[in-house]
Amino acid sequence: MAGNWKMYKTPAETRAFFEKFRPLVQDAADRQIVICPPFTNLAAAVEAAAGSRIEIGAQDLFWMKEGAYTGEVSGPMLAALGCRWVIVGHSERRQYFGETDETVLKKTVAALDAGLTPIVCVGERLEEREAGRTEAVLLEQFRIGISGLTPEQFARIVIAYEPVWAIGTGRTATPEVAAAAHRFLRAQARERYGEQAAARLRILYGGSVKPDNIKGLMAQEEIDGVLVGGASLDPLSFAAIVLY
Ligand code: PGA
Repeated sequence: MAGNWKMYKTPAETRAFFEKFRPLVQDAADRQIVICPPFTNLAAAVEAAAGSRIEIGAQDLFWMKEGAYTGEVSGPMLAALGCRWVIVGHSERRQYFGETDETVLKKTVAALDAGLTPIVCVGERLEEREAGRTEAVLLEQFRIGISGLTPEQFARIVIAYEPVWAIGTGRTATPEVAAAAHRFLRAQARERYGEQAAARLRILYGGSVKPDNIKGLMAQEEIDGVLVGGASLDPLSFAAIVLY
């Protein structure tokens, strides 16, 4: 159950969130909880989550370890800070910052090299869905962005299916629509990496996940977890989602 805070909250707001959120989820021993704040809040989040079941992730990384890359942050830097996870290839990064399936693959490998678990995001845009191209888009994202991984690398990633038309729009994919996309992605995983790897793969759904639709989504066998944007900013609503 992962929260993507996007470009929200200061360090003080981060500490305030954890103060409320931590006790609410302390007994949720059967699920993994990840929160991905902006870079500037990672240190505060790692400190505030210490000793709890909550793990911290970043929202992006660069693929080089260090160097003259003004403004960038590397996997080893995130790991040294205490991050365990990192989101890669979120649609907002693809839309506003020129990320492509090629850079997604490089970043995924860099994350794995640093010992981080990448949450690799895929998903179609509205016009692609309306043109009946959802599977073609997912196939392309999988082929170029993911299938270059070795089986060992693939075993350590998590995929997030986030239909772009459902992100921040209040327009969630129905559980059935989400499950169909998950099934398609798992079939690609099976074809490339085999039955066992596909069965073990965790696929999260993301896009307007809220406390009132989480149950229906998680009732789908194909949906292993969720990546939550807006509703992860509030400790009560994210706790309700985590504990669904
Ligand atoms: P949302 O965002 O829950 O606000 O729709 C999801 C995401 O972008 O990861």
